Amino acid sequence: MTAERDHGQAPATHGSRIDAYVDRYAARATGMVASEIRALFAVASRPEVVSLAGGMPYVTALPLDMVGELVSDLVTKRGPVALQYGSGQGDPHLREQICEVMRLEGIHAGANDVVVTVGSQQALDLITRIFIDPGDVVLAEGPSYVGALGTFAAYQAKVVHIAMDDQGIVPESLAQTIYALETAGAPIKFLYTIPTFQNPAGVTLNIARRQQVLDICQRAGVLVIEDNPYGLLGFDGEPMRALRADNPDGVVYLGSFSKTLAPGFRVGWALAPHAIRDKLVLAMESAVLSHSSFTQLAVGQYLTTQPWREQIKTFKELYRERRDAILDALDALMPPEVTWTRPAGGFFVWATLPEGLDSKAILPRAVAERVAFVPGTGFFSDGSGSRHMRLSFCFPEPDRIREGVRRLAGVIEQEMQLRDTFGTSSARDHTGVDTPGPDLA
Ligand SMILES: Cc1ncc(COP(=O)(O)O)c(C=O)c1O
Repeated sequence: MTAERDHGQAPATHGSRIDAYVDRYAARATGMVASEIRALFAVASRPEVVSLAGGMPYVTALPLDMVGELVSDLVTKRGPVALQYGSGQGDPHLREQICEVMRLEGIHAGANDVVVTVGSQQALDLITRIFIDPGDVVLAEGPSYVGALGTFAAYQAKVVHIAMDDQGIVPESLAQTIYALETAGAPIKFLYTIPTFQNPAGVTLNIARRQQVLDICQRAGVLVIEDNPYGLLGFDGEPMRALRADNPDGVVYLGSFSKTLAPGFRVGWALAPHAIRDKLVLAMESAVLSHSSFTQLAVGQYLTTQPWREQIKTFKELYRERRDAILDALDALMPPEVTWTRPAGGFFVWATLPEGLDSKAILPRAVAERVAFVPGTGFFSDGSGSRHMRLSFCFPEPDRIREGVRRLAGVIEQEMQLRDTFGTSSARDHTGVDTPGPDLA
């Protein structure tokens, strides 16, 4: 230790070391590194690049004038409340309204069991914080949401992936994995699942499997975390019944207004059994004291005064048109060796490349050809998934989507020719989980 440090001052920089505190970080911070993909996304956000990468909702479809008026009214008419601290659990009236939203998915719950959070991302963080010690096991679909994997890594959880097909989690794989982990004495803390219009795979757990998954977890005493930001964005028929609907004790449900209204409000929630809810409120208070009263009241006011169900319908129609555009373009333009999922809602298609192609290795070429996607490796905690890519259809207009797929198909064809000539393409070794960021969400 230097004399300087002994006097409580900042340590001196050593040689060419840029971060003077590099050896002071907690062990959990070592996994927090921005992936090299990030640098490419800076280029990918240029207007000439069709980005099929980011999962940004198309907020332009909102009546923005109305939102402006609502926010302005909130300050002038309810300023002293809206600009004040609130409760750690969240605004009681908004929690009532959240219960009304969840009824669309068959959930009958009391406002007292809801905790309002800063997006469902914070609910994920709080859940992980209260359940995970370093080395504890989290079960998650393979692939899974990059933001959740980043949170699990930050708390030093060990993520074990469960196989998934186009009907969602494979129950046999879940049962076998739980059995193997239990036999090995590994502490399983929860199953994290996105059963409906999954991010990144776009698939939905079918009704028969829903019950099987719940039964398996109940028998093993494994808590289920149901992350459901896309559940109301189905393109056909009524919303799926949530896993939580018939299982108030075994499931923590996470919801969000990010996709049905706008992510800028950062309003999400957790619905949890009483004991877990109490811990979540305490964790919430220790993290941020209370959520922003302002955005909670803005969302509450929106739900009270605006036809929010109609707005969800508008979003669904818009995303359905974009889903059709991407599927039609893929059908028409991709080489036959490429396969992909056919989502019935949400934002994402999950594509599988032919043997010998590596999506991360081809991303720079794709960006040079002015199209971007997210390589599959970001969605697995162990860096597998290199033959996959996530294609988002939520943000670009249909014509742009078609153009993006045309460019991507050209890149993949070229890669296949290169593979046939020179052998397999491969990326550098994957170094840990890609940190969650709005550009990857
Ligand atoms: C599956 C899933 N969970 C959680 C989130 C976080 O959403 P938010 O924090 O905006 O509610 C996202 C965002 O894309 C997501 O796709």
